[in-house]
Amino acid sequence: MAFSKKFLIGAATAAHQVEGNNIYSDYWIQENLEHSSFTEPSGSACDHYNRYEEDISLMARAGLNAYRFSVEWARIESEEGVFNEAEIEHYRSVIRTCRKYGIEPIVTLMHFTSPAWLIKKGGWEAESTVGYFGRYASYVAEKLGPELNYICTINEANMGLQLAAISRRFKLMAERASSLHESDDGKVQVGINFQKMIENAKYAAIENAEAFGTSQPQVFVSSRTEQGDKLVMKAHLAARKAIKAVCPSVKVGITLSLHDLQALPGGEGFAESAWEEEFTHYVPYLRDDDFLGVQNYTRTVYGPQGQLPPGKDVELTQMEYEFYPEALAHVLRKVHEQIKGELIVTENGVATNDDSRRVEFIRRALSGVESCVADGIPVTGYLYWSLMDNFEWQKGFAMKFGLVAVDRKTQTRTAKASLAFLGSFAGRS
Ligand code: BGC
Repeated sequence: MAFSKKFLIGAATAAHQVEGNNIYSDYWIQENLEHSSFTEPSGSACDHYNRYEEDISLMARAGLNAYRFSVEWARIESEEGVFNEAEIEHYRSVIRTCRKYGIEPIVTLMHFTSPAWLIKKGGWEAESTVGYFGRYASYVAEKLGPELNYICTINEANMGLQLAAISRRFKLMAERASSLHESDDGKVQVGINFQKMIENAKYAAIENAEAFGTSQPQVFVSSRTEQGDKLVMKAHLAARKAIKAVCPSVKVGITLSLHDLQALPGGEGFAESAWEEEFTHYVPYLRDDDFLGVQNYTRTVYGPQGQLPPGKDVELTQMEYEFYPEALAHVLRKVHEQIKGELIVTENGVATNDDSRRVEFIRRALSGVESCVADGIPVTGYLYWSLMDNFEWQKGFAMKFGLVAVDRKTQTRTAKASLAFLGSFAGRS
């Protein structure tokens, strides 16, 4: 099976997770606190900042035709109001390298990391962030927009509300003195160490206060209030407006983290309200977008008492959630009920040490995508997460999502079989 030539088949990364030495960012500070919840700091990560050409050429050789990556706000505006031309030149070179290898670049403006100065000013709960983000988006669009066809404003704009819901549940469990297990981290899709966060809370608060002037810095991936959630949407709208003002032909969208929410008898109410919170209430903000970035990793099942843990015999990924590639097509179909425009799978993937399971995951996920396309759902691309094994946030480098292995001592790249397998789906005609 292969898609048409126009269909985007590629891989995704995020600046902080692969570039290395993102020293002006909020995450860099948090990773290096004495009581950090991060298992290790990002350090030089995969040195993608210097090795991007090698990485892009690996994709091209395997037949991939698209690459989603993020430009780093903390590099471009490391000091408030001071924009760095040299960093723009760097990203221009990444974009041109993609073009040289026949790869469509898809740029994300904000993939979780922010400049540390923004967080000191209240971060993602402060109204002023809307203006700052709009100004940054305008600068990037003016400089790089003419070279691009696709920009994602914000990655997983709904992550903050998902975290809020999960931390409510965690607090409840802690109050009831039931023991938390590391595997409970699997209830959230992204790399978070809840147990460690709770254990470290007291000291981390003091260290954060010293670093950011507040014991609870509002980095992007933290529990969002309802007001903060609206603010994220306003930031998206401000960025979209800014981009369209300078480059009207660039397609602008946002990406959302979406679970396949399934209900056993009696669990329907939970699944419906979770979908409302995770997706439906954002729809009014997205109506004028050119595409939606759909990001899915697994399913969540609800019973009459709420969310159920994965069954005993179920295969788990390294992230402790269920290996369930069918979730992607279910989510695409559900999203299409409310959004009729272009959908791009901007992330979908699996963390595993066994690459043959990754091949199987991609095979089943793409067969679902193919069935959606056959049914007329306008899915125009599939970007696997991730191009290479990288820094999975608080969980560090242990999670292996990559199509390419990276030896972090030597920074040597080794393509896994899954890379060529994914490339084989790219259409030649
Ligand atoms: C994020 C990535 C992350 C991936 C795997 C997504 O939530 O956008 O940054 O690495 O999931 O957990």
